[in-house]
Amino acid sequence: MTGHVLKLGDVVPNFVSDSTQGQIDFHSWLDGSWGILFSHPADYTPVCTTELGRVQTLHKEFAARGVKLVALSCDSTESHLGWINDILAYNKLEEFSYPIIADPNRDVATLYGMLDPDEKDSAGMALTCRAVFIIGPDKRLKLSILYPATTGRNFDEIIRVIDSLQLTATRKVATPVDWKQGGSCMVVPGVKQEDVEQLFPKGVQVHEVPSGKVYLRTTPQPE
Ligand code: BEZ
Repeated sequence: MTGHVLKLGDVVPNFVSDSTQGQIDFHSWLDGSWGILFSHPADYTPVCTTELGRVQTLHKEFAARGVKLVALSCDSTESHLGWINDILAYNKLEEFSYPIIADPNRDVATLYGMLDPDEKDSAGMALTCRAVFIIGPDKRLKLSILYPATTGRNFDEIIRVIDSLQLTATRKVATPVDWKQGGSCMVVPGVKQEDVEQLFPKGVQVHEVPSGKVYLRTTPQPE
């Protein structure tokens, strides 16, 4: 066991850590916004260099959705600051706008269950995996994923799930496979059929299936 297991719906644990943009008190830093805390195994490694560059390329997309970004690894702030120059050069970027947390003692990594026991540094200490924690304005965990060091993430997918999380936080819909912003949605099973007309003024289509059960109900994406 390499740390705490965070469950969906939990208030994420607070911590105070050094970062490339000064000390971060995580709950204060979130400041009622959506947030993404994501980890990478180590600075000065190839896949991580592509990932943090891609996040910077997408940073306006995250900002447009009101989502704050913060990265983390078990390296020092000095290491992060030096590596940022390589990220900028390799990804042909001009600026690096989000902080990277330094967690050399694995305090945050342990608190959030980010450590991968199969991935160790030269001293034999476990490294962080490629974790993503998406946190809502209520500081509760809305979604998490853990990837191993050898598999880089797809941050377009992270934008897609943010769109789904933000839509479904306030509307009684769920987003189907491969859904994208503007696509048709599923009415959630808890909505009674007699309530659909009032809840979904754009209309609801009930799809007939051999079971005869009424559960496949599609509606245009609500406003
Ligand atoms: C990488 O970022 O390329 C990487 C880091 C740790 C292990 C394997 C790959």
